Amino acid sequence: MLHSLFNVFLISLFFYNNCIAHHYTFTVKEVPYTKLCSTKKILTVNGHFPGPVLKAYKGDTIYVTVRNRANENITMHWHGVEQPRNPWSAGPEYITQCPIRPGSDFTYKVIFSIEDTTVWWHAHSSWTRATVHGLIFIYPWLAEPLPFLEADHEVPLILGEWWKKDVREVVEEFIRTGGAPNVSDALTINGHPGFLYPCSKSDTFHLAVQEGKTYRIRMVNAAMNLILFFAIANHTLTVVGADGHYTKPLNATYITISPGETLDVLLQADQNPENTYYMAARAYQTGNITFNNSTTVGVLRYISSSKAKTSLFSGSYPNLPFYNDTSAAFGFFTKIKSLFSGQVPVQISRRIITTISINLLRCPQNSCAGPNGSRLAASMNNISFVTPSHVDILKAYYLHIKGVYGTRFPDFPPLIFNFTAENQPLFLQTPRLATEVKVVEFGEVVELVIQGTSLVGGGLDHPMHLHGFSFFVVGVGLGNYKISDEDPSSMYNLDDPPYKNTMTVPRNGWIAIRFAAVNPGVWFMHCHFDRHQTWGMNVVFIVKNGIWPNQQILPPPDDLPPCH
Ligand code: C2O
Ligand code: CU
Repeated sequence: MLHSLFNVFLISLFFYNNCIAHHYTFTVKEVPYTKLCSTKKILTVNGHFPGPVLKAYKGDTIYVTVRNRANENITMHWHGVEQPRNPWSAGPEYITQCPIRPGSDFTYKVIFSIEDTTVWWHAHSSWTRATVHGLIFIYPWLAEPLPFLEADHEVPLILGEWWKKDVREVVEEFIRTGGAPNVSDALTINGHPGFLYPCSKSDTFHLAVQEGKTYRIRMVNAAMNLILFFAIANHTLTVVGADGHYTKPLNATYITISPGETLDVLLQADQNPENTYYMAARAYQTGNITFNNSTTVGVLRYISSSKAKTSLFSGSYPNLPFYNDTSAAFGFFTKIKSLFSGQVPVQISRRIITTISINLLRCPQNSCAGPNGSRLAASMNNISFVTPSHVDILKAYYLHIKGVYGTRFPDFPPLIFNFTAENQPLFLQTPRLATEVKVVEFGEVVELVIQGTSLVGGGLDHPMHLHGFSFFVVGVGLGNYKISDEDPSSMYNLDDPPYKNTMTVPRNGWIAIRFAAVNPGVWFMHCHFDRHQTWGMNVVFIVKNGIWPNQQILPPPDDLPPCH
């Protein structure tokens, strides 16, 4: 026994020294990039867009020193990493830290625990994540077997959104006017718009595969405001992981992926190697709003192919579902199941029901650019979240600083109405502006029901993301959640529901999620459409300390950026 433990130790040293660094440096700086025939400076990590891949073994702790050498504030978030007891490194600006100012540094301690497969990192200050993001590959510890066939190669694949304008200007403008933000000019695959866009022939993502090999695509939707359909012509995709957890293998001809979500997808290079195949992504979009309806395309080619490079632009396109095909989108989402059964908490100690809505605020003389001269907003339980601007909530909580936040986020919608009705009385459109958090005792088992509403524009899908936890998606439905139901578990999957950190609430529908509040800290929850986050579709959970030392928030790091 001792002997084998010692071996384990040696092997792990070997692995650590040879493959995986424990300390990374992220220098955030502006670099010029040219896309779609126009050049602008973008924020990057180490000059790269998208940013570098981080690699970690399950349960590892890594350190990432973020050096801000740009001229705007930055913070970094490790999306999907639960960070047990360590909200200090969670990242959302003015929620768990004050920003890293230009010229300053901060070292994030990223504590992996139960995560497997793929998660990602991104900036969490204003809309800086548009270009500051990258993947995190998680490997099983030592020789722990994978629950699926080991792939021959790994392929990082990041779907993104590109604006020709400076993203800062896009943000500044829609906040000033109160209207909707400019839609992006392109979608991208690994930063490349693809040859369907102007000036982009040479700015197309190419994947060269070898016949007979298996590729593990580790992907994320890093777009700011769009749920995407993605497919590869003639090739079946086998989903084996989602949001950092294994799933039952699922064969799919297309996938749907929301901002914030990660997927691990196996691709077999099993088609005629003489042909060229395109991969493509475009929006899934419901509701009556303007959106980027363009398509990004990448090229899949077999290495053995005798075809010359010029013929790469005659290949077959995949079939993608139509833009507003909700049954296609949720047909995919709801087919994802956890690999494991019987892990869902059956007894809950707390049920919280919250609406999520788009709202309108009145402007003097109807001078804003939203509908009827009003200002667009968004809310949860009719509270449009106001982000503090001087001290972050974690610091205020830890140091008992009064006046930064209130603790009155309601457990129940303040007004019950037909949430998904076609026409809504206008008075329901106005939210309350406040910074209210939800305080939860350590160890409570929370069921959170998130109900979409049709307020303002008839309803939209919302990818809701929670920091600090993975949650089981026990239910998804259209229409109104039946609040009166005594035991709603008959309509739940309590056997093998997906274990996620981001789940999309269907347009005019609801989701029910469960998690055990065993991670003390301050944890942000928000819509992963950045425009909705900016408008206030957010809430903060404070999970109190437990009684034992290992149930308490870690002490703050020394180099935490100061607030001022
Ligand atoms: Cu990926 Cu708070 O977000
Ligand atoms: Cu939303």
